[in-house]
Amino acid sequence: MSNAATTASNATRSAAIDGRGGFRSQEHETPLTQLRVEGSVPEWLRGSLLRTGPAKWEIGDQHMRHWFDGLAMLHSFSIEDGSVSYVSRFLGSRAYRAAKERGEIAYSEFATDPCRSLFSRVASLFSPKISDNANVNLMRLGERFVAMTETPLPVEFDSETLETVGVAYEAPGILTTAHPHLDRATGGALNYAAKLGPRNSYRFFLVRPDSSKPEVIASLPVRRPAYMHSFGLTERWLVLVEFPYVVNPPSLALSGRPYIENYRWKPELGTRFTLVDRATGEATGPFQTDPFFAFHHVNSYEDGDGVVVDICVYPDAELVEDLYMERLRAGKPIPNAELRRFRVSPGSGEIEHERLIDAIELPRINYGRCSERPYRYVWGNATGESGWIEQIVKADLDERTRSPWSEPGSFPGEPVFAAAPDANDEDDGVLLSVVFEAHREASYLLVLDARSLDELARAAVPTHIPYGFHGQFARS
Ligand SMILES: [Fe+2]
Repeated sequence: MSNAATTASNATRSAAIDGRGGFRSQEHETPLTQLRVEGSVPEWLRGSLLRTGPAKWEIGDQHMRHWFDGLAMLHSFSIEDGSVSYVSRFLGSRAYRAAKERGEIAYSEFATDPCRSLFSRVASLFSPKISDNANVNLMRLGERFVAMTETPLPVEFDSETLETVGVAYEAPGILTTAHPHLDRATGGALNYAAKLGPRNSYRFFLVRPDSSKPEVIASLPVRRPAYMHSFGLTERWLVLVEFPYVVNPPSLALSGRPYIENYRWKPELGTRFTLVDRATGEATGPFQTDPFFAFHHVNSYEDGDGVVVDICVYPDAELVEDLYMERLRAGKPIPNAELRRFRVSPGSGEIEHERLIDAIELPRINYGRCSERPYRYVWGNATGESGWIEQIVKADLDERTRSPWSEPGSFPGEPVFAAAPDANDEDDGVLLSVVFEAHREASYLLVLDARSLDELARAAVPTHIPYGFHGQFARS
């Protein structure tokens, strides 16, 4: 083969594996569309994979700076009798409506701050313009469906039409997580919010299924709040893990910098584990261990007299920098997380840890069966040769092994586990993942056997779905 032919062949190959097209803005909503299914979707799988995610980073001649900033779009894959339909719609948040009306970015996002005068910045101390751009995750809360980001304004939407209903409730703080836990006793959602002011505190709260009034169940004073994207839950404890990525609260209002750029990596603080009794609200700890950073807790449970806390861990918070759009669109690789198990002894305050599995992120478990309990399997994503996410991974924590699914030119998102009815085994079910297919510049829904990672079916979407974070399967 001539050099020219070799070069052409390499160019074709690199084009085939280049998944950067998944970071293009999606300007258009897709009306309800029946998708062609290749393979066979299990008959028992009935319901909707609902997802939210950033979709639009360019507004007028401005642009959002970070992956986490894009205006939220809702996606629904409805599955019934082996057939699959798809619909998408922008979340009608006030951030979206204002951007559309004015043709410019109107609200501050994670790493994007519309140009504001000092006067308006100081004014916003007293009535902050909080974004409700709920592009990170969603949950079912009783009969309601709620999209969330890390601001205190989750947004309810209609799960069939994807129409926006409005703010579902207001979290009791200024910063919260998009990873609430199910409170099995009430069917409500447990979460935490950081209240900032003259005195800062972390406040854990419960929202009951039919309520719009969060109930604060524990409050912990804190001097320099940490950035936390999720937390752990056992039958007895709320598990707060504070990474040394912290903010001096006044700087949030006065620095003139976007929200996350006020946080500083302070490894000398170490990482602090605090256990909060769910029944009494009393805190045990904090217990300090080595510095590390994470977005995602995987699962937690009590084991003898210790508390097991599994987390996807990075050595520091550099990953936050890696997820700016300029870097992602330039194809800069991102690191993989390590799944690390911490064992906390509430009596002595000792924390031991061990590496369970290399390279897994966007972790999902058989949540209904295993949350708060010992478990064996985690499904997630890992990067490939391109440095971007190319694999779906199944981790067996008993055997300490991992097995991958991948296909050249396919870039999968978070694999959502849906259990088979009357399943005996923890991994009896399917995985649902939205995959960006580079050569088509469009996405497909992939259905894998969760046990073997064998492909059961795929359903091609006529357009691309920008890379997102989280979704849930809602049974019908
Ligand atoms: Fe997340």
